[in-house]
Amino acid sequence: MKKAIFSIVLVILALGLRAEELKSPNGQFTLQFEVKEGIPVYQLDLNGHAIIKESKLGLELKDASSLLDGFTLANVSTSSFDETWKPVWGEVKEIRNHYNEMAVTLDQKSSGRIMVIRLRLFDDGLGFRYEFPEQAKLTHFVIKEERTQFAMAGDHTAFWIPGDYDTQEYNYSTSKLSEIRGLMEASITPNASQTSFSTTGVQTSLMMKTDEGLYINLHEAALVEYACMHLELDDETLVFESHLTPDAQGVKGYLQAPCHTPWRTVIASDDAADILMSHMTLNLNDPCVYDDTSWIQPIKYIGVWWEMITGKSSWAYADLPSVQLGKTDYSKASPSGKHAANTDHVKRHIDFAAEHGFDAVLVEGWNEGWEDWFGKSKDYVFDFVTPYPDFDVEGLRDYAKSKGVRLMMHHETSGSVRNYERHLDQAYQFMVDNGYNSVKSGYVGNILPRGETHYSQWMINHYLYAVQKAGDYKIMVNAHEAVRPTGLCRTYPNLIGNESARGTEYESFGGNNPDHTTILPFTRLIGGPMDYTPGIFEPDVSQYNPDNGSKVNTTIARQLALYVTMYSPLQMAADLPETYEKHMDAFQFIKDVAVDWEDTKVLEAEPGDYITYARKEKGSGNWFVGRTNDEEARTSRIHFDFLTPGKKYVATIYSDQKEAHYKTNPKAYQISKFVVTSKSELNQFCAPGGGYAISIMEVSDKSEVKGLRKL
Ligand code: NOJ
Ligand code: CA
Repeated sequence: MKKAIFSIVLVILALGLRAEELKSPNGQFTLQFEVKEGIPVYQLDLNGHAIIKESKLGLELKDASSLLDGFTLANVSTSSFDETWKPVWGEVKEIRNHYNEMAVTLDQKSSGRIMVIRLRLFDDGLGFRYEFPEQAKLTHFVIKEERTQFAMAGDHTAFWIPGDYDTQEYNYSTSKLSEIRGLMEASITPNASQTSFSTTGVQTSLMMKTDEGLYINLHEAALVEYACMHLELDDETLVFESHLTPDAQGVKGYLQAPCHTPWRTVIASDDAADILMSHMTLNLNDPCVYDDTSWIQPIKYIGVWWEMITGKSSWAYADLPSVQLGKTDYSKASPSGKHAANTDHVKRHIDFAAEHGFDAVLVEGWNEGWEDWFGKSKDYVFDFVTPYPDFDVEGLRDYAKSKGVRLMMHHETSGSVRNYERHLDQAYQFMVDNGYNSVKSGYVGNILPRGETHYSQWMINHYLYAVQKAGDYKIMVNAHEAVRPTGLCRTYPNLIGNESARGTEYESFGGNNPDHTTILPFTRLIGGPMDYTPGIFEPDVSQYNPDNGSKVNTTIARQLALYVTMYSPLQMAADLPETYEKHMDAFQFIKDVAVDWEDTKVLEAEPGDYITYARKEKGSGNWFVGRTNDEEARTSRIHFDFLTPGKKYVATIYSDQKEAHYKTNPKAYQISKFVVTSKSELNQFCAPGGGYAISIMEVSDKSEVKGLRKL
């Protein structure tokens, strides 16, 4: 008996010895990797708490034996890396990329193939990917499914949106993992593109909180030449497994060795602020490919836009039953009278932008074809170079130039992607010729060629192609409806923005949940900045269009806060100039707020409840604070210890009045001014659906603080 126990202990010890262990640079994360009965498995702990329980790794191939099992560990190599780099634009001036790495080479003897799994452990979490070195028995191959598991250690609270191959524009649901199925079955109406999902498939970036108070985020980094990953939950075992987006043939990816997958990422901490401040996703991307980045600059812009979104105006020039581009004589068509992208109206916007210091004016609906968007005649909708008769391209080019303002191009592809690719060079050249240096692109509707979806490998390749080609023309891209970002803006900083989530436009299509902007920074923004288009000062949409009863579910004070809490180097003041002219006092914050940052601090954060950021403007001593609140009234308590000790600043606080409420009294804001120092403190009321914004300007002259109270 004793002998038996002794040999069991020996076996356990021997097995235990086989696990390879890696620690994060600060020693708090422990990663274990092992080949168990031929299957690669890993697990991740943070200070002794399980973040990922033992989970399997591998891929299933089409028309070839799988890369799931039958492996032996052929080699393990470890290394460390520590470097500090400067982003072209960002939340901070410098980013430290510091990790310990383990690369395991796996030998599948039966097939004569090898696969490398590279694991990088940072102080904020883990990134790993599969690599396929050049080899005789694995050249071209087709992925049937990636089978990467993330086994959860408990029934965590999750902030999730349902799996979908075509849209990310959902409100978030907050529930236990075990409740996802019930909620999805009850309340989420699946799109056609969701039919291949079970009712427990979710999108990344997925945010979770454990009962012990640990925050865990799952996502991917550097999504290039591969399909976008969703996560399927086994809600009995609480194990997530990767689910790649199929292409029109149902295939998940075509690869050719040497190659690798994107990184799979796990960010974790006991402090929610650390999740927001994690730079791991950027660090897992390659450095910037451009030597000269002087043409890439953050942009604050206004646009001929919200009036179309609300239905006050139209993108289309005329009411035509159908059009054929190039053959429709628009000059003979009678204008609908609602066409906003006309020369006079755009000039009015240029004047407003120039007067208030904006860099650019976006104009949507300037080009022919909007009448037949859904007709899609002959796979040929827009050509991106033919203006409507009332839009004077050259006149506006010269007018904008004379006012020191740029026009921002708009390319709505209507999902007709091959059509866009065929026109891309011509379209970008047209921009260069007419003084445009940035484009908002869009992919509304089902993708053509038919059967492709927004997140399949083919489309992932397209989005990057459009950005790379834009780089050739020194053009910045802000793509809407494109795949959720995965940190590629490090490599291609001309990818200046993305929508890829439910933005402000939905405030005009029924509204966003009041807690939406307390979740987005923990989810969508993990991969990169979002063109959320804040700044709506008229929360009652019917004021613009009596037929639209939608209400903007935030107070005006919170709209200001979003310029700080929703990080983006591209920020829009989305409301109409005439509306801003009625609230010039509050508008001052939008004029003042920076779009590029030297430093960022998270002062308060809890996903689903509230987030308070303080950010220091690049190149000045000024700071800006923003606080976004969920549907509950709360008091925010902050210290100004982020300020330089000994210095005085003037703080202008734009906050909710006591009686403000996103539903009943969204316009009730107040503005107060104080002198602040690094010793100041603030207890600030935030209304339901509210928040506040503060500009903190360095004092250069004593007269600036005269008569002001100290906080
Ligand atoms: C959807 C985009 O998100 C929105 O901003 C744009 O105005 C419309 N598509 C039209 O292109
Ligand atoms: Ca959209």
